[in-house]
Amino acid sequence: MAQKDKVHKITLIPGDGIGPEVTSAARKVLAASGVIIDWEIVDAGAGALQKYGTTLPDETVESIKKNKVALKGPLTTPIGEGFKSVNVQLRKTLDLYANIRPVRSALGITFQHKPIDMVIFRENTEDLYAGLEYEIAPGVAQSLKIITEKASTRIARAAFEWATQNKRKMVHAVHKANIMKKSDGLFLESVRKVAAEYPQITYKEIIVDNCAMQMVMRPEQFDVVVLGNLYGDIISDLAAGLVGGLGVVPGANIGDEIAIFESVHGSAPDIAGKGVANPIATILSANIMLRHIGEGKAADKIQAALVLFLAEKKHLTPDLGGHSTTDELVDGLIEKIKMLR
Ligand code: NAI
Repeated sequence: MAQKDKVHKITLIPGDGIGPEVTSAARKVLAASGVIIDWEIVDAGAGALQKYGTTLPDETVESIKKNKVALKGPLTTPIGEGFKSVNVQLRKTLDLYANIRPVRSALGITFQHKPIDMVIFRENTEDLYAGLEYEIAPGVAQSLKIITEKASTRIARAAFEWATQNKRKMVHAVHKANIMKKSDGLFLESVRKVAAEYPQITYKEIIVDNCAMQMVMRPEQFDVVVLGNLYGDIISDLAAGLVGGLGVVPGANIGDEIAIFESVHGSAPDIAGKGVANPIATILSANIMLRHIGEGKAADKIQAALVLFLAEKKHLTPDLGGHSTTDELVDGLIEKIKMLR
């Protein structure tokens, strides 16, 4: 049950490409769960550029700062040229340092035989995503990888704290410190110091290339995984592929005060406007948001409905092997939510 008569004010960024389709689907599902949300809808990304002449209008940032919580659709970033990633800008501006991505086979969509239940903690504010790139001479480009003790320590602490609160047993730190001895070396050194404060949690280190292979062959060995920004981006997409793909993996960007919830996937221009985008990743991101705002019971109900819905294997979108539209999936899911009342 939702908190009685409580109205939550939340910022909504519909986003680009399939963003408006999947966020509108998530809104319908949240409404069906009984939670009352007063959405403040603001723009960002390619759409905002046309309307406001900037990809990140001040009013968007102000709305998130005021409401402290936002649900966000994906935003398009041009490849190799054009404006910088608004996602990266938002995470840096609002200091959302922890990108948390739970990867679970609990929904029953997986190519693996053993259960997968890992939570990825990706550092969100630095590394090669600092955007410090230069052409230092014709034909020579340089990109700076920034790693700080502060950012490495706080993502490690976020991972170990979460592991403790959720009774998890193991944390893996992923690195390439054998080659990047200074930068990844500092990351590892910082994580080790935090790990020493949590003796009840088994701490392991793994080199990123081996991690990629292990994750495909024996994903069940991973529990909580902490990584830098770039490795976190790549490894979490790999992990998503083990449990049904990008259409079903949610995410949260958390800072000390503000949180933005969004799926791992991008704006999927290849299927945008066709009405076939899978909204589950955004619905699950919204579900993490519900827990964050104290609506855990409503989140439990949506989760239970999703498991029932997926078990029937009816009304699945094409990425999950079905032939249904986004709307048909949402209607099927809402039917299950109503059954659970
Ligand atoms: P993408 O995640 O948009 O798409 C990769 C593949 O997965 C495509 O074939 C797409 O159709 C499929 N896919 C993704 N989400 C799906 C869904 N919900 N349902 C069904 N199929 C889905 O990644 P891509 O193509 O690399 O990036 C497209 C744009 O998105 C780029 O501009 C990129 O910068 C941006 N992007 C934005 C993110 C964000 O806002 N957080 C995250 C990742 C990418």
